[in-house]
Amino acid sequence: MIYLDNAATTSPKPDTVVREVDRALRLYSANPGRGGHTPSVTTAKAVYNVRKSVKDFFHVKSEEDVIFTSGCTQALNIVIKGTLKRGDHVVISSMEHNAVLRPLHQLKEQGKINYTIADVVAGDNDATVNAFRNAINEHTRMIICTHASNVFGVRLPVERICALAHNYGILFCLDAAQSAGIFDVNLSDNGYDYVCCAGHKSLYGPMGTGLLLLGNDIRLEPLTAGGTGSDSANPLMPEYYPDRLESGTLNIPGICGLGTGIRFVNTRGRENIARHEMRLVQHLYRELSRTDKVMLYTPAPEIDEYAPVLSFNIEGSDSEAVSAFLNRRYGIAVRAGLHCAPLAHKAFGTLESGAVRIAPSAFSTERDIEILLKAVKNFIHTT
Ligand code: ALA
Repeated sequence: MIYLDNAATTSPKPDTVVREVDRALRLYSANPGRGGHTPSVTTAKAVYNVRKSVKDFFHVKSEEDVIFTSGCTQALNIVIKGTLKRGDHVVISSMEHNAVLRPLHQLKEQGKINYTIADVVAGDNDATVNAFRNAINEHTRMIICTHASNVFGVRLPVERICALAHNYGILFCLDAAQSAGIFDVNLSDNGYDYVCCAGHKSLYGPMGTGLLLLGNDIRLEPLTAGGTGSDSANPLMPEYYPDRLESGTLNIPGICGLGTGIRFVNTRGRENIARHEMRLVQHLYRELSRTDKVMLYTPAPEIDEYAPVLSFNIEGSDSEAVSAFLNRRYGIAVRAGLHCAPLAHKAFGTLESGAVRIAPSAFSTERDIEILLKAVKNFIHTT
């Protein structure tokens, strides 16, 4: 199998991650913060060590501002539902994933909030920032913005958009699902209020892991309430983090695997991984742009403007049919359809057709791309 669906989740995971999950299940099978016995304390230390490595990786102020979640979707829901009040307005980009759009739309349907979609102009950051500026109104409480499109790779000028938000006294939430582990996501330099990450994509952790990183001291209402092992006589959730947002038993094997995934990224070098993936995507782009019937939607990607993700279509063919052919005939795994990002597809005119998305990882090779190219050409000649 040639796996090129790493934007959905990276696969394979590094051997070190697999071994760490196994080790955690054996060594850390006690509930942290729930007992004074040795196994519980040992597990709590393991969790703390991962919290610390997350803090260092993203330059978060303190370990307490690192919240473990089940994924980026849960982190975004905590931010959205824990911050917004009746009458608030939110600005999002035209590249947002349903993990942003749907919770906002849910609140809008309940008559609580409103939101505006700012058009991203690929290749013109000034125009993109202006679109955000124009969308702000007197009720705007927060801007939520993806670092890079999970479909077309377009990278947004998030540092500038965050500065714009703060100029207007508005909160800024970064959706780093596609960028954490690829691009620099630095809370201390950029002043993001909230950063939401998937743990299982370019951080190479297990599925079912995610992060909410708190940049500034802003009170969030918890999405779920329950036991934290702290302040137990109090029927209210603790005021302090991470306990306030982490009720219930944590996903210890997942968290330990995520810590080892981050170590993998640090060892290989985040920028080395990004350059490697981008080289593969650039090669693919060059070859596809010379192939009749292939429809590309962006200019040739460069790392400053695009994440290493490429989507295309073949004239006259459904994206799902291409993906099914690649899987069946060549054992190549790619994702077609709408990638849970209808806004991005609408912006690029592919809402009807969807698109075939290629997303390499640190483990992808030039040979993978050569076989993919051969398979795409074969599909074109045989249909
Ligand atoms: N959001 C993930 C993707 O882009 C699942 O495929």
